[in-house]
Amino acid sequence: MFLAKYGQGAPDNPFVSVGKPLLSLLNVDEFVPPEVDEVLVDDSLTLHMLNRLHRERLQEQAERPAPAVPLAEELPVAEKLYTEALDHAHEFMADARKGRDVDYHDAQPVVDGLIESVFRNESAAATMFKLRRFDEYSYTHCINVGVLAIILGKYLGQDKDTLRLLGLAGLFHDVGKARIPEDILNKPGELTTREMGIMKTHPLESYKIISNTPGPEQNILRGAIEHHERYDGTGYPRGLAGADIGIFGRIVSIVDVYDALTSKRCYRNAMPTYKALSLMYQWRDSSFAPNSIEHFIKCIGVYPAGSFVRLSSGEYAIVTEINMINASRPTVKILFDPWMRRKAAVAVDLLHDDGGLEIRECLNPAGYPVDLTTLLLA
Ligand SMILES: [Fe+2]
Repeated sequence: MFLAKYGQGAPDNPFVSVGKPLLSLLNVDEFVPPEVDEVLVDDSLTLHMLNRLHRERLQEQAERPAPAVPLAEELPVAEKLYTEALDHAHEFMADARKGRDVDYHDAQPVVDGLIESVFRNESAAATMFKLRRFDEYSYTHCINVGVLAIILGKYLGQDKDTLRLLGLAGLFHDVGKARIPEDILNKPGELTTREMGIMKTHPLESYKIISNTPGPEQNILRGAIEHHERYDGTGYPRGLAGADIGIFGRIVSIVDVYDALTSKRCYRNAMPTYKALSLMYQWRDSSFAPNSIEHFIKCIGVYPAGSFVRLSSGEYAIVTEINMINASRPTVKILFDPWMRRKAAVAVDLLHDDGGLEIRECLNPAGYPVDLTTLLLA
């Protein structure tokens, strides 16, 4: 938690910025004059809270029991859920395009299914979304952002009710793109200033569509309208900065950028995950709330589940489980020998491997004639 500012009541300067880290709401009074009634506490993604939370996570990880369900068992379930979610995304985008009402409550069972899958075996959901290689970015992006928002929210210690809202916010954050002309949406080249102006209306369009749902949840609305806001105020549509961007907007923006960079688009190829993460790390002080990128990287790993890697032995493997104690030493499944010949799959926990096996390189699976999903599910 972070004490961001409190009201002073002057019309030209209604707030006083404080910027004090808080370990407990009980400490607020130490930093605020006694006559002040209301204070704004920034409760997300900030240094002290997360440092403590992260220490707890490390401890949990060290003592962590095995996932409730083994990866091999959960993967087919996660795949089925992903397909269902994809069908749903097709439906609500088509409805939005035709100007029909979209009720996000209809997606609740899908999101609940994804949450349960993440709780049974987080790596299965993460691997599945990463391996899906559809050329239908508009739909896969919704699901990926929903799943990643759930995974990041879980890492941040959010309860299941909040995770459900986060999943829905992720799923519907770009629904407003249904109102953007297709030639702008799928333009292979750079957008003109006019086209960019139209494109930038999509968060507001998402907001409008979601607000037609009966009793729309504020957090979902804010997740949608704030997902292109940036911490330094350079985002859109409102140019909000710092503590004015809510936790849903922050979480959705991080996972949105990550999925956009690592997905294939009509104007460029997918960026390998390590490259996307290092780029986002460079933007850590401008685009995102303090320490949030560091924690996102810790949450999904330097080599996220589903990454295709080459090991020091020359063999090729896929990352099946990240390791929070040492992010560069996940658990992998070796699938190919150094000459890219298929071999019997062997799972190796790189943290506890006595042979000193380590990752040499993270590869882009698109450059190899392999279908990792099939191999993993086999
Ligand atoms: Fe967007």
